[in-house]
Amino acid sequence: MTHANSSSRPDAALAKAREQVLAASADKRLRPSIAGFFDEATNTVSYVIHDPATSKAAIIDSVLDYDAAAGRTSQGSADLMIEYVEKQGLEIEWLIETHAHADHLSAAPYIQEKLGGKLAIGREIIRVQEVFGKLFNAGTDFERDGSQFDHLFEDGETLQLGEIQMIALHVPGHTPADYAFIFGDAAFVGDTIFMPDFGTARADFPGGDARQLYRSIRRLLALPEETRLFLCHDYKAPGRDEYAWETTVGQQKRENVHVKDGTSEDEFVEMRTARDSTLAMPQLIMPSVQVNIRGGRLPEPEENGVSYIKIPVNAV
Ligand SMILES: [Fe+2]
Repeated sequence: MTHANSSSRPDAALAKAREQVLAASADKRLRPSIAGFFDEATNTVSYVIHDPATSKAAIIDSVLDYDAAAGRTSQGSADLMIEYVEKQGLEIEWLIETHAHADHLSAAPYIQEKLGGKLAIGREIIRVQEVFGKLFNAGTDFERDGSQFDHLFEDGETLQLGEIQMIALHVPGHTPADYAFIFGDAAFVGDTIFMPDFGTARADFPGGDARQLYRSIRRLLALPEETRLFLCHDYKAPGRDEYAWETTVGQQKRENVHVKDGTSEDEFVEMRTARDSTLAMPQLIMPSVQVNIRGGRLPEPEENGVSYIKIPVNAV
């Protein structure tokens, strides 16, 4: 299933991604403009990416604000992105999720209603829907075929955002359905790697796998050193007072505290597994996953018109 293996099979998708990054590094017209929006409540970074020549744009990993105690959603974070898109005169073609997030609800359906665009995620979301559909005892009305999304990406798939080429790479490990999306020379890596001083994403959610995560990260770090990396989260790190979410492949290879050059797969797996066993579940995991496996839509309302979020007790 996974493409992020270390077999001797040539990795055609990676070779194509390398070529794309080198071409974009050499030619400014092939590089996207990028705006990051940081949500401090969930430590998530959402992005608006656009082609300066045509104003075609994509949004990655938008956040719907959620007050868990009150069970209330709001759209302040999404509205900031919508405002930016309108001010810049951008045309949204894609609303992309790097994976089914466990720490925030997606605002993609809300933004889609306002700005259009196709909602997309990696094909392996179907596996995530199977696992969590069972956990939440979702009824037969919950389709486990990815049909809540307009498009499912495959490893190595490419598309054009105006003049900018995008290639999708399957990078499982944090979840089975994690993808990195590389626009020109800029890779949006989701929950794989974080800032060099913080390390990597956890791999202990249902369907997660530390060994797979290591291989996915090494695959990303096989991109050219100058590749710009844009992260999905930042939590600061001891000794750093500012949030940060942009780095490069070269910097990660030299400095990442979990996976810099020289760290073996076994060393990583041992470290990651030990660290994950100390981490609490993210506060919003239950609402997030229930909503995000439905493409960011709330569960079907009950006969009184109200949607409910379930909490499985003693099941995880
Ligand atoms: Fe995540």
